[in-house]
Amino acid sequence: MTIMRTIWTFHTATSFIFGRDAVKHLGEVVARLRARRALLVTDPVLIRAGVVDKVRQPLLGAGLAVDVFGDGEPEPSMRAAEQAIALAGKVQPDVVVGLGGGSNMDLAKITAAVLSHGGKPHDYVGDDRIPGPIAPLICIPTTAGTGSEVSAATVLTDTENQIKVGILSNYLRPRIALVDPLLTVSCPAKVTADSGIDALTHAIEAYTAVDNESFPLPDGERSVYQGRHPLGDILAEKAIALIGANLRRAVASGQDLEARDGMALGATFAGMAFSNVGVAVVHALEYPVGGATHCSHGAGNGLLLPYVMRFNMPARTREFAAIARLLGEDVSGLSEAAAAERAITAVEKLRADIGIPTRLRDLGVRDEQLRPFADKAFGIKRILRVNPRPVTADDLEAILRSAF
Ligand SMILES: NC(=O)c1ccc[n+]([C@@H]2O[C@H](COP(=O)([O-])OP(=O)(O)OC[C@H]3O[C@@H](n4cnc5c(N)ncnc54)[C@H](O)[C@@H]3O)[C@@H](O)[C@H]2O)c1
Ligand SMILES: [Zn+2]
Repeated sequence: MTIMRTIWTFHTATSFIFGRDAVKHLGEVVARLRARRALLVTDPVLIRAGVVDKVRQPLLGAGLAVDVFGDGEPEPSMRAAEQAIALAGKVQPDVVVGLGGGSNMDLAKITAAVLSHGGKPHDYVGDDRIPGPIAPLICIPTTAGTGSEVSAATVLTDTENQIKVGILSNYLRPRIALVDPLLTVSCPAKVTADSGIDALTHAIEAYTAVDNESFPLPDGERSVYQGRHPLGDILAEKAIALIGANLRRAVASGQDLEARDGMALGATFAGMAFSNVGVAVVHALEYPVGGATHCSHGAGNGLLLPYVMRFNMPARTREFAAIARLLGEDVSGLSEAAAAERAITAVEKLRADIGIPTRLRDLGVRDEQLRPFADKAFGIKRILRVNPRPVTADDLEAILRSAF
């Protein structure tokens, strides 16, 4: 490992609590926060699946008043965020609890931010626009995917402009990330697959990002992302190995608790890595693709991942060879270039085994949309600058064409 000559930093949730049945200790956790009134931000599917009760009970048991915002939705719109914020304004919670996949956790994060600083979600879109600490926030993931429980991001869908937008600030990192793998057991196979390959994308994009030493942040601009660094590498390596060993199993058999443990830990490690190092071209392209087709974030990323790996191969051959090994490929006797190829084929095979679409046309994308997608993605400089190989709008179009 190279120890960089530049200064780099690492941020995550203030406290991290991990393990089966961790949720049963939520009462003690909120007691330490001296909270009296919680707003639980979640969605109808999780209410019906009985997951919400597992979280509400310990909160009630600790003597808290609990209000529930139950109208979360996948890939949440600005409108959903405004509704959650309106309820928070009415009930004035002293702790916000995000329960769900990335979608609900992101709603909880922006709710806690607006509760403290006023305004509308739109005011905070972009990098580092939240002015200070936000209301105490606990995030409890029910998918093994986004890493939002430790990340500095909230992603919302701007339905008018058909694109996902990111709000990035270290103030958005939760006070507490409570990760209980048992809460993911009720995830259907498709949600397990989509969110799991999103986590793999986070780990691979962080592991192959541009080095911190050459991170091209223009003077005067701030970003939570800073390029590749040693702690990011450690977390990303572990995440790739955990996801490689467990994602197929978790999709094939949702009751496989060991696989659920491995995925829950792998996804959070991937979140710790990417939310400091950055994500890159896969995510930049998924924003317009997901905004227009309404495919899940994970399905869009999983589809695009091998095509972007191919584009980045010349800049990161050594890292791709390491990824092949981490994914369990036997690369003994192969040249570095041949081993690196195996990383791409291993991801393609994993993608097929868990049922992620492989072509943009399968999502209903039309040829004439490719250039506008490339132009939109080219505008997302804060993540494009993380990519190990500089990209032009023409490169982005070429990648989309290869995935079409
Ligand atoms: N903030 C970040 O750092 C970050 C990172 C990556 C992605 N994202 C965003 O997160 C969102 C995707 O999140 P996701 O992949 O976790 O999926 P999701 O939150 O959209 O959930 C997908 C569906 O699965 C259901 N579900 C979730 N957990 C379940 C469970 N245990 N049992 C039964 N059903 C369950 C949900 O109710 C929902 O209907 C996107 O909006 C994406 O852009 C955010
Ligand atoms: Zn993602």
